Amino acid sequence: MRISFHVIRFVLSILILTSSVYSYAGRKVENFNKSWRFHLGELSEDAASPAYDDSEWRNVRLPHDWAIAGPFNPEENGYAAKLPWRGAGWYRKTFRLDQEDAGKRVYLDFDGVMAFPKIYINGQFAGEWDYGYMSFRVDATPFVNIGEENVIAVKVDTQNQGTRWYPGAGIYRKVTITICEPVHAAHWGLFITTPEVKTESASIQVKAVVENHSDADSSVSILYELFDPQGRLAVQSKQSESIVSNASSEFTQILKILNPQRWDIDDPNLYLAQVTVFDNDKVVDIETSTFGIRTFRFTADDGFHLNGRRVQLYGVNLHHDHGPLGATFYPRAMERQLEIMRDMGCNAIRTSHNPPAPELLDLCDRMGFVVWDEAFDKWDRTAGRVRGEPPLREYGERQIRNFVMRDRNHPSVVTWSIGNEIPNQPWSREGKSAERVAFMSDFVREYDPTRPVTIGCHIPSTADEHILDAVDMTGWNYARRYANYRKNYPDKPILYSESASALSTRGFYALPLPDSKTAFNQEALQVNSYDHNAARWSDLADVEFQLMEDDRFVGGEFVWTGFDYLGEPTPFSREARSSYFGIVDLCGIPKDRFFIYRSYWRPEETTIHILPHWNWPERIGQTVPVYVYTNGDSAELFLNGRSLGKRSKQKTITAPISLAFNKPATIGSGEEEGEDAPPDGNDGSRNTSWVSSRQNPVKWWRVDLGESQHVGFIDILFDQEARNYQYRIEASQNGSDWKVLAEKNDWLGSTQRMTHETNAEARYIQIVFTELNRRAQPGFWEFCVYPERVENPYYAVLDKYRLRWMDVIYEPGELKAVAYKNGQIIGESVMRTAKEPTAIRLTPDRIKLDASGEDMSYILIEALDEDGTLCPLAENKVEFEIEGPADIAGVGNGNPLSYEPFHADSRKLFFGKAMLILRTIDGETGEIRIKAKSDGLKEGEARLVSY
Ligand code: GAL
Repeated sequence: MRISFHVIRFVLSILILTSSVYSYAGRKVENFNKSWRFHLGELSEDAASPAYDDSEWRNVRLPHDWAIAGPFNPEENGYAAKLPWRGAGWYRKTFRLDQEDAGKRVYLDFDGVMAFPKIYINGQFAGEWDYGYMSFRVDATPFVNIGEENVIAVKVDTQNQGTRWYPGAGIYRKVTITICEPVHAAHWGLFITTPEVKTESASIQVKAVVENHSDADSSVSILYELFDPQGRLAVQSKQSESIVSNASSEFTQILKILNPQRWDIDDPNLYLAQVTVFDNDKVVDIETSTFGIRTFRFTADDGFHLNGRRVQLYGVNLHHDHGPLGATFYPRAMERQLEIMRDMGCNAIRTSHNPPAPELLDLCDRMGFVVWDEAFDKWDRTAGRVRGEPPLREYGERQIRNFVMRDRNHPSVVTWSIGNEIPNQPWSREGKSAERVAFMSDFVREYDPTRPVTIGCHIPSTADEHILDAVDMTGWNYARRYANYRKNYPDKPILYSESASALSTRGFYALPLPDSKTAFNQEALQVNSYDHNAARWSDLADVEFQLMEDDRFVGGEFVWTGFDYLGEPTPFSREARSSYFGIVDLCGIPKDRFFIYRSYWRPEETTIHILPHWNWPERIGQTVPVYVYTNGDSAELFLNGRSLGKRSKQKTITAPISLAFNKPATIGSGEEEGEDAPPDGNDGSRNTSWVSSRQNPVKWWRVDLGESQHVGFIDILFDQEARNYQYRIEASQNGSDWKVLAEKNDWLGSTQRMTHETNAEARYIQIVFTELNRRAQPGFWEFCVYPERVENPYYAVLDKYRLRWMDVIYEPGELKAVAYKNGQIIGESVMRTAKEPTAIRLTPDRIKLDASGEDMSYILIEALDEDGTLCPLAENKVEFEIEGPADIAGVGNGNPLSYEPFHADSRKLFFGKAMLILRTIDGETGEIRIKAKSDGLKEGEARLVSY
């Protein structure tokens, strides 16, 4: 009896995208998500007893995140989204096992439970797990009653969960039940590798572990079959062996495939391996896995190569949450995330900072992304270890076993990461040492010797201490911190595991423009979407583009982050509840930044994007800068039909040159003559800094401009320490008579860049440090002097990747950008001033849905004026009415400050937009009608169908 590939393939595809049941040979696999009851709060272990009365508990369907419904607690810090995720909860479900299952093995597979689940079956403790992001299996066989009702209870408790973002709470990924014969293929026991891949043939090694749980020895044979991407049997072979009672055995076979069709990001061909297990000639089990045939290598000098060619990794980091859905995992929500990232030109995903839902990897295999699969953030409480227990060696082995065994057949996975930004021992007891990095890496290699082991790093000096010797390559987060590793390990590959950490709020523009990357709008608590801002430790997209062009040895960047996520709302960690880092907002609506990436990552696709919006009634007659993000090399801008000139992207970066650049500088701590200052404070590079010693703090730093000059503008880039001191800037013609040009007697917010307009003729300029708090160390990255005000030199790079018209005098009407490439028009884009909103428009991303109970449509809600122009400032509250077989899975609008619940039937627009997410109802088909109403506006409508 053989199941055709098409059946299997069909089964696999529905398993990936919907809930389902399938059974073949001796194995039955069922989705176990339905008909659970849930109680929020601590209960005694009695709640695990079959007799316990749970009739008052809520009915829920998994996956489930109890905290996402809120309410938000505005008083809490925003690092974990201000949602009520901390606490305990109980789940119960009654299920029946048929008489025909007698003598079989029964397994429960949990893809992810946040956190510390304890599983009870019929009142008996059946298993537990600690790390909330890891998949695990519970062997239910000893605890179940055949032919009768069974009760499973799961206690979940997040109280010991440490986190730096919103973790979610509950059984937030799917659960599956597998019932199979006593002789069966082991869980995750299939391991497919491709030891040799050539154009004409590839050898495929298939390892399969078979377990014999019966009381008798068994004579087992295995039929291996490999099917090509078109579903044709490519090769088969058979092998036999006997397995003694209650033991397992590993079978290995090497098969040859002729003219292999490669898996590649452009053409993700998937083969299928099918292993049929015979026990004394009777088919008892079939196990399958897709796999890909590809070659890849990370090189030390030329980045990443896939199938023999260099591929620049255009990657993003993705956290596990899905915005308004919380941690709840739905394959369609994930597929949509990847579709949006793909449209931008992204080809690589880093699963920051934990193992993803397994479907993410199925999707990456199918869609053609490469994956940096990551096990942990830190190795302490964020990894599920409490007060250093269990010991890392034992804990790491167990987690990494599941991590690697589960994911190792995915062609998309190209590296295993053992962690992110783990501090070093002894500074942190739970940090990394050479020994710990070595054993964690070896655990990975034990289960997969074919892929490089990596780690996400952030402390450059780690590379001096041999701590990283055991990993095959490294990733580094921000600001070229990999430079030191490259020096120390010239033969090892490097990835840029986190780049950018740029910040913006979709739709929010305020003038004047931020004049430094850390100049944040403390009143609005939103981040300007002109894309001038990044976190202190990080950079704008443009800076990173330049870096990747310069450092070709790096395999590519993973931007922090593709999507906004719940928690970590830098720079407004107190007030906001979700991040500003995303290239798209929490609902997946693109921010302006999306288009700068798209224009650069997809140079062949037309992108012409104008910003800001064109509704500035309070600025008529004043300037409003206009930026255009395009893959073209130039563009002409028109305002109400008048040309505002054609701009071209600069080929080289031309920053204004400081009068102090590389001029001799001296330092001193008193009145006496100074000594020569090191060149770092005025060498034109913000990667080097001049810092005074802590023991003997310098009182002044002085530069000699060489001759008397007009000094109109002073621009200083300090480091964080500057919070702790004050200063005075003085000018002199002769080096002894000083005139005060500027003073700073307080600290003016979070910006590190301080500028002063001055008006002096001077040869010498000095900065005098006053009032050092807390033994502060005065210093700065760059001290610049100009004859007149200049734009922050940090922004000079923008003109290489964006087109900017800085002096547009605002008048309402129409802005048009016509873009060119190599002298040819490639297209145009128009932005119009909107009138008052008059109508609501609904735009579903999908109209035909599967009645699986897990399929979804994301419906974009927008306000339009009477001419159909989008209203970029609309804040109208919109109410939704749904008729037909669908529920609201969540609503949102991308506002990091909003405390409106995600589970609701209404939402305020945020800068003209909001998102309604609908989910189908299991087994219910028919038309779904959605109405969106808002006071004074024409109602919007959409129709979907579930079938
Ligand atoms: C990194 C860290 C990320 C995130 C990011 C924000 O240092 O690895 O998890 O916190 O900073 O910029």
